[in-house]
Amino acid sequence: MNIIHPSFGKLDDNRIIIFDTTLRDGEQSPGFSMNLAEKIRMAEALTELGIDVMEAGFAIASPGDFESVKAIAESVGQRDDTPVIASLARAGQMDVLRAAEALKSAKRRRIHIVIATSELHMKVKLRLTPEEVIQATVDSVTLARQHADDVEWSAEDATRSDQDFLCRVVEAAIRAGATTINLPDTVGYAMPDDIAAMYRNILERVPGADQIVLSTHNHNDLGMGVANTLAAIRAGARQVESTINGIGERAGNASLEEVVMAIRTRHDVMPFSNNIKTTSLLRVSKLLSTITGFDVQPNKAIVGRNAFAHEAGIHQDGVLKDAATYEIMTPESVGWQKNSLVLGKHSGRAAFRDKLNTLGYSIGDNQLNDAFRRFKDLADRKKIVYDEDIVALVDDEVMRDHERVRFVSLDLHAGSKAPPQAELELEVDGVVHKASSSGDGPVDATFAAIRKIFPHEANLVLFSVGAVTEGTDAQAKTTVRLEEKGKMVDGQGADTDTIVASARAYVHALNKLLVKRDRTEPAALSA
Ligand code: KIV
Ligand code: ZN
Repeated sequence: MNIIHPSFGKLDDNRIIIFDTTLRDGEQSPGFSMNLAEKIRMAEALTELGIDVMEAGFAIASPGDFESVKAIAESVGQRDDTPVIASLARAGQMDVLRAAEALKSAKRRRIHIVIATSELHMKVKLRLTPEEVIQATVDSVTLARQHADDVEWSAEDATRSDQDFLCRVVEAAIRAGATTINLPDTVGYAMPDDIAAMYRNILERVPGADQIVLSTHNHNDLGMGVANTLAAIRAGARQVESTINGIGERAGNASLEEVVMAIRTRHDVMPFSNNIKTTSLLRVSKLLSTITGFDVQPNKAIVGRNAFAHEAGIHQDGVLKDAATYEIMTPESVGWQKNSLVLGKHSGRAAFRDKLNTLGYSIGDNQLNDAFRRFKDLADRKKIVYDEDIVALVDDEVMRDHERVRFVSLDLHAGSKAPPQAELELEVDGVVHKASSSGDGPVDATFAAIRKIFPHEANLVLFSVGAVTEGTDAQAKTTVRLEEKGKMVDGQGADTDTIVASARAYVHALNKLLVKRDRTEPAALSA
């Protein structure tokens, strides 16, 4: 292969481009939507992680999606270390122009065009003939090249497409100017051998296929997203599309942290390189969980709570003698650290800022002031402040930036003698409002007070409480899920007081709902 890529220049044969689609494929799956501030926070964390391409959204899907692609292009897209910022577009003029408009201020940009190529999708969904799909491909890629040098074209449902037709349409896309060709396993149907055969076939039969980057994008319906991704790389793909924690449509996408660590740990059979700073993987995974309210399962590879836990005596004995007995990579290599006593109530702002830098945060002065105030408050109430406490607190603070409704204070009278009474203060659009309410318990009373200050119709469908660290003085981490007219949102809160954490989580969910009310769901991917 001898690839000169418009965004990456001359590519080393073994270089893998990491394309992250957490903010597009991940975000479009139910329950995972994020507001603008959260997307920007994720975009910053992904940039610091070292991804090469960030799919920031699907610009034409809604005004909100357009705004978030544009905002990412205008913020992260201006940094010296910016990844290539991409927007998805269907193979039609309006889509391509909308993507180009949203991306126009990004220093490095990519228009990513998708059209289905399987017989089933072309006939039933697109109602286009194969020749019309080829024409739409050529027209849209040609148009996109007038707005960006870097254009990706994806054959939706490639793995269930007729492979002869796939060769024809890929050739047409390359001739029209596509610089990356992506062959997704859209429905997670393929086996690793099928995937490898598809890439070899394209490389053998399509003129010019060795001059562009072949990309792989695998869904996890049969639990094979990562295996298929690795098979594609071994067969010639040099771009991997994946998401943090493997989030995405239905069963999700190949998980970025698993693909990266598989390549790194099995370098003997996968001698490939990428730019990911693996020690930041855990932090980005946790940030995504905090924002979306979905923790990964405990046994999730790399970032699950038990991924490096050794319970069985025989295993513990082995690990104490030599960690390599049961650990194929070190926990530290992906960002796990032993709980450390970090700061106390006498620590000053400089030490706090320093700690945040070590934990990978670079936040502005206003957020730093608010976070420092909350840290002092926490240190007064909690004997030991761990790194996890700081992470929960700062993520909580950062998430609340730009919110219309903000938690101010809560005074609660509860116990076994009288019904609980909540006295709540919330700031709505900059004005502080007060309400008091009773209820069937302190949480119910607090939520009733929120509804008094900010009346709404949403139903509470889930309420859960966990602990950030161990001990009775641990911060509570709460999740509240609200549902309104079929739209579902999750909010999170953290505090040493469980009821305050619950109020924060409710308010967070409410803010997300306000964002969702203005947003229509992305249209089906048809031209
Ligand atoms: O799964 C898929 O086919 C996609 C495309 C839009 C790339 O997400
Ligand atoms: Zn997908």
